[in-house]
Amino acid sequence: MQPKVYVTRRIPESGIALLQESCDVEIWDSDDVVPRDTFLAAVADKDAVLCLLTEKIDAETLSVAKNAKIFANMAVGFDNIDVPECTKRGVMASNTPGVLTDTTADFAFTLLMAAARRIREGHEFVHAGKWETWGPLLLMGQDIHHATLGLVGLGRIGTEMARRGQGFSMRVLYNDVVRREDLEQELGLEYVDFDTVLRESDFVSLHVPYMPETHHLISTDELAKMKQSAVLINTARGPIVDPAALYTALSSGEIWAAGLDVTDPEPIPMDDPLLTLDNCLVAPHIASASFQTRSDMSELAANNILAALAGERPPTILNPELLGDS
Ligand code: DGY
Repeated sequence: MQPKVYVTRRIPESGIALLQESCDVEIWDSDDVVPRDTFLAAVADKDAVLCLLTEKIDAETLSVAKNAKIFANMAVGFDNIDVPECTKRGVMASNTPGVLTDTTADFAFTLLMAAARRIREGHEFVHAGKWETWGPLLLMGQDIHHATLGLVGLGRIGTEMARRGQGFSMRVLYNDVVRREDLEQELGLEYVDFDTVLRESDFVSLHVPYMPETHHLISTDELAKMKQSAVLINTARGPIVDPAALYTALSSGEIWAAGLDVTDPEPIPMDDPLLTLDNCLVAPHIASASFQTRSDMSELAANNILAALAGERPPTILNPELLGDS
């Protein structure tokens, strides 16, 4: 009998095709989130689950999914998975690092440019029939070239963001719990403390994982330290930024603009005050959404499952201590 795998959403076909070569695959065949009770019923008899950041893999899930050897997240972020609880129960967990790095950095830089140069306002201006003449004062924005880019977090995506900043002749500052002197040399980055990133940057871009330590890392005090001309970019996780504090800072002119691919909560409610602001650009969590990258993510998640089911090492396992080899 083939192993049973549950996939919690429609995902790119290439990952499904890999699984179907040797597994009995059940898919929540929808673009909507699987309801929690349906999810719990479905995972009860599965040997592996390909899940998304919309599913909570917690003690309740793990106690229901008694046969599951692995929960393979199709995302690099895994704040939806209680990894220590998985480990305690001998269940593997995996994510999809690497394959989405460049695509996500491309998008973070796109948001930075769009917010700095007021692309959304320009588009709306044209569509509202307001474009009557070339205007010397019309929709002026912030320069990107030779500005200072401040990175909070210098992991894979933060590093690629630094390279993009270099391409625009930017001064690049960073702060992280780990100092990377090799990258400072290679990319001409400056390691500074968190406050200096906030005070000296024209663009502050967040590239840290979401965890208790990074909850509301950017709130009233941090926004107050930023330049009035500064732009905040968040492609990491919504709750890293305090949304009420951000609204106050943007609406009072304490900072100049924000570009958000992630919000708290997601989706952002239509009556969220941030949506009333012209200087807040919001995208629906699509930084990794290129055709190629989403296929690569689905394949990596599938390969993690296939390895776990074959008794091999999943390529991007999050709790390798279960394998006893690290
Ligand atoms: C991730 O991978 O964590 C993103 O948020 C979705 O691609």
